[in-house]
Amino acid sequence: MSEPDPRRALEEARREADFYRRIAEESGARRLREAEALSQLLERAQQAERELQVVRGELERRVEARTAELTAANTHLCRAMADREHAEAELRASEGAFRSFMSHFPGLAYIKEADTTVVFASEGFRAYLGLDPEALVGRTNAECFPEPLASAITRDDLRILSGGKAEHVPEDFGGRSWVSHKFVIPRAGGPVRLGGLTLDVTEARRSEDERRRLERQMEQTQRTESLGVLAGGIAHDFNNLLTSILANVELVRARVAADPLAAECLADVENAGRAAAGLCQQMLAYAGKAPFVAEPLALGVLVRKMVQLLRSSVSRKLALELRLADGLPLVCGDPSQLRQVVMNLVINAAEAMADGDGTITITTAAVQASGARLREALLGETLPEGAYVVLEVADTGCGMDAATQRRIFEPFFTSKFAGRGLGLSAVLGIVRKLNGAIELESAPGQGTRFRVLLPAVDATLATAPERGIPRFIGDGLVLVVDDDPAVRRTTGRMLSQLGFGALEAERGAEAVELYQRHAGRVRAVILDLTMPHVDGVETLRLLRRVDPAAYVVVASGHAQADVSMRFSEAPPEGFLQKPFGLEALTLALRAAVERGAPGGAP
Ligand SMILES: Nc1ncnc2c1ncn2[C@@H]1O[C@H](COP(=O)(O)OP(=O)(O)O)[C@@H](O)[C@H]1O
Ligand SMILES: [Mg+2]
Repeated sequence: MSEPDPRRALEEARREADFYRRIAEESGARRLREAEALSQLLERAQQAERELQVVRGELERRVEARTAELTAANTHLCRAMADREHAEAELRASEGAFRSFMSHFPGLAYIKEADTTVVFASEGFRAYLGLDPEALVGRTNAECFPEPLASAITRDDLRILSGGKAEHVPEDFGGRSWVSHKFVIPRAGGPVRLGGLTLDVTEARRSEDERRRLERQMEQTQRTESLGVLAGGIAHDFNNLLTSILANVELVRARVAADPLAAECLADVENAGRAAAGLCQQMLAYAGKAPFVAEPLALGVLVRKMVQLLRSSVSRKLALELRLADGLPLVCGDPSQLRQVVMNLVINAAEAMADGDGTITITTAAVQASGARLREALLGETLPEGAYVVLEVADTGCGMDAATQRRIFEPFFTSKFAGRGLGLSAVLGIVRKLNGAIELESAPGQGTRFRVLLPAVDATLATAPERGIPRFIGDGLVLVVDDDPAVRRTTGRMLSQLGFGALEAERGAEAVELYQRHAGRVRAVILDLTMPHVDGVETLRLLRRVDPAAYVVVASGHAQADVSMRFSEAPPEGFLQKPFGLEALTLALRAAVERGAPGGAP
């Protein structure tokens, strides 16, 4: 064993110290580096912190700004919502007001879409048609109304929607008449709609129709009246002329019996005169001024008695068929006027058969006429419903078109070459006076049926007393007062045949003077009713003043009933229907003769 070497140990200690120093140095450097890194890290962390601070500040600002924005938006929204609620409330109020307003509309009010879907229907649908207005909303025309009404309404709706022009449209439904005012409602930003206001015009239309009917009737009545006055006036004048003609013929006949030619001429004059008197009778009948006695009579019996006359009045080729029912109620009328009715209808029927053959059927029957039937008939409007007797004259002749039918009752309307146009006018005048009605059925080529309806009366026939005409020889004077010299002269001649002396006066004043001058010798006065200046009524009053017992016979072409009305206080003793002949004159003066001594002022 060797001893430790000190140098080596030093060496080793030195190396060891170096080693440790190096380690220390390395560790110190490392620590330094670490410390440096650490401080860098720290610095970065601080930097990051600072940056974070900046970002946070920014963020906070932004959040603040956004919050402010949101708050503003919210406030705005709240205000908008309030506005909207207000607007909605206003809209509801306005709609309520509209509905309430429309519920007072006296008709139907509605709004529809362009495809006719109902948007609004007023309360009127309930009140007028029993339809629930709410239930109509959302339904189209086809779903609201039956056909063909729905199609008709749709057609109108679409036309107005496409044309854009408002229209008044007449409509008929539910058994009533309506007028719709339809119009287009423009809509901003949407298709147009259709508006409609519909009014029930049934009553208005009815009263308008009624007014028009009354107006027509009034016009017709006025025309009839003025024609009646005209016809009556003409007939009256002609009557005077005919009185003179026929009476003179009667007077001359006996004197010319020995001269056959003269007798023949006279017969012609008489026939023409009678024909003219017949026309006068038609005119007077039309004017309702013909002499008239109302008595209960059996229409069938009257027709049967006319058969001979009727057959001889129509062509032999015509068949005349009678269907007269037995046991009919009586009617009230003037027999000669009813004969005139039958005659006129039968003659017309015969004349309607141009080739002269065909059938005329006269039927009588009893009917219960309803108000509706009477209203349809001519003259029937105001007649009461009930029992009537019908006289029908039917023919198989040419018939009439509607235009002719409207005019045939006008006086002087004729479609015949030699017609007078008075036959049916007379029928009308007579039937009117008897409170009857006329029905007419006719068509060109189909023949014609005239039916006269006369009210049935509750009466039985009295047997009329036989009236004989007493022959007498008159004595004393008869005063004839007439402004027509021919009538005076003729009456004078007849009077002298009866044994009277005749006094003639042209005027009332002259008559009174003559009456006074021949006081005590005037048996009777024949007084014309219509005279210029002082008329018959006034003359009678003056005569009565001179002699209250004067026997006065009024002569007139007017009906006795009409004449009597005019002498309400001091009626005359007798009445003579113009034209009158010997027989009527005799009858009128008989009572004056039987009365004995003539009256007259002392
Ligand atoms: N039975 C009938 N058939 C066809 N037309 C008739 C008939 N009765 C009357 N008429 C028509 O009525 C018109 C008037 O008749 P009416 O007053 O009797 O006058 P008239 O016979 O003189 O022509 C006739 O012209 C004729 O056109
Ligand atoms: Mg005729």
